[in-house]
Amino acid sequence: MAMTRGIRRGVLLALVVSVTAAGSAAAAPLGGWQPQSRGSDVAARLKQQQPAPLSSYGPGGGGGGATGVFGDAGLGDPLFPLAGNGGYDVRHYALGLSYDPATTILDGTALVLASATESLSRFDLDLRGFTISDLRVDGRPASYTRDGQELQITPARPLRAGRPFTVSVRYSGTPEVIIDPDGSAEGWVPTSDGAFVVGEPQGSPGWFPVNDNPRDKATYDIAVSVPAGLTAVSNGVLLGQFTRKGKTTYVWHEGAPMASYLATATLGVFDLQRSRIEGIPSYVAVDPSQAADAAPALAQLPEIVKLFSDTYGRYPFDAVGAIVDDAPDVGYALESQTKPNFDRAPDDFTLAHEISHQWFGDAVTLTTWPDIWLHEGFATYSEWLWADHTGQFTPQDAFDYYYDNFAADDPLWSPPPGAVTDASDLFSNSVYLRGGMTLQALRVKIGDARFFTLLRRWYAQNRYGNVTTPEFIALAERVSGQDLTAFFDAWLYQEGRPASW
Ligand code: ARG
Ligand code: ZN
Repeated sequence: MAMTRGIRRGVLLALVVSVTAAGSAAAAPLGGWQPQSRGSDVAARLKQQQPAPLSSYGPGGGGGGATGVFGDAGLGDPLFPLAGNGGYDVRHYALGLSYDPATTILDGTALVLASATESLSRFDLDLRGFTISDLRVDGRPASYTRDGQELQITPARPLRAGRPFTVSVRYSGTPEVIIDPDGSAEGWVPTSDGAFVVGEPQGSPGWFPVNDNPRDKATYDIAVSVPAGLTAVSNGVLLGQFTRKGKTTYVWHEGAPMASYLATATLGVFDLQRSRIEGIPSYVAVDPSQAADAAPALAQLPEIVKLFSDTYGRYPFDAVGAIVDDAPDVGYALESQTKPNFDRAPDDFTLAHEISHQWFGDAVTLTTWPDIWLHEGFATYSEWLWADHTGQFTPQDAFDYYYDNFAADDPLWSPPPGAVTDASDLFSNSVYLRGGMTLQALRVKIGDARFFTLLRRWYAQNRYGNVTTPEFIALAERVSGQDLTAFFDAWLYQEGRPASW
């Protein structure tokens, strides 16, 4: 929710003031959280069954026939059980979109290249809204029904386990904005001159048919046609652009595996600046209304990319950049792969935060949503490394500030970052700040050298994949040679401000 981010920023600003000026800033007022009791034992958690691999889901509850089963309607995420679908694995999406802000109509053609992990007589994609005019599997018209976000497809011929197949969908309509459990808007969000397109955690079915689960990463080709004069910005590299009959088509290619929530197609009036950063093509798209305010932070983009490349390992993707729009009602920024989306001109902290997510979030991605601290705690910590690098304050300053200014029972500490059980808490201050503090406490506990070795290994070993908190704890124990059970229990799983660890 917008407010969450605003409060977090406010707190950080207070921190900058308190560290850079003499005198201590009062704790910023916080509100809106409900403390919940979610304590648990880390050892029990470590023993908890890990999510099964994609291929082991199904058969679905719906039954099936002699020729195959119905793929599951979801992958069983604890917070978004219907996100994604069972029975197949997507390799690639080829999307052809056309959008006119004047009519708000999106016309789309989606080609989904997938591979069946079991024999299927029926399977689902996730799609919200739109009228479908044509749907084919392997080129043959298929029958389908709609049930909420589930697009249930029955191919003319059943799919055989282990075989590749294609789904093509032609669809049209005014995209419906998706409202999250925390009240924030996502998906295809209209702006005064186009659309701000963001999908965490569940916005992508608002603009294309998708296996909407972070575990099913795929590559993407995204072509977007807009009225000439507008610019459409998507993931990866720009293969080309052409204008015909008053419409300009931008053709983007993302060649690295990408979680569906990181797809974007933000469009509107933009200045698109191309350059190279660390040898990688850079695309910075700025709404002219934001240009002056965004300039100071954007000037730091090369330095930010360099800092995190030096600290964590080489930049994961084949393009870098930023999309700075004027969409203040959205109230948050998002780390869309290769080009984070900003709803307004970012400051250098917000830019550093979203760029650091390219390592932690985009390249190294959670398996299920309750592990969100593996993204947000790491990105918050990265902001503090940026602050340290630029001489503003140290991670320990940040740690001390929050530790000293927020009482043991303050909502700032709740929910424990490893124990998010309510989808409305995914982007809570605790996930960000207590998550970042967990890393600082760990750094102090195991020492600088081991701490940074841990972060580099975590990235190197898991780049382009999916991870869990128990895997992080296990690697931290291996790298440090310490038993960290009590440490992580205190920081990730127990209610209230950790007292000893
Ligand atoms: N991951 C984004 C960030 O870096 C926040 C996304 C918030 N999304 C939402 N639906 N509330 O901070
Ligand atoms: Zn973040």
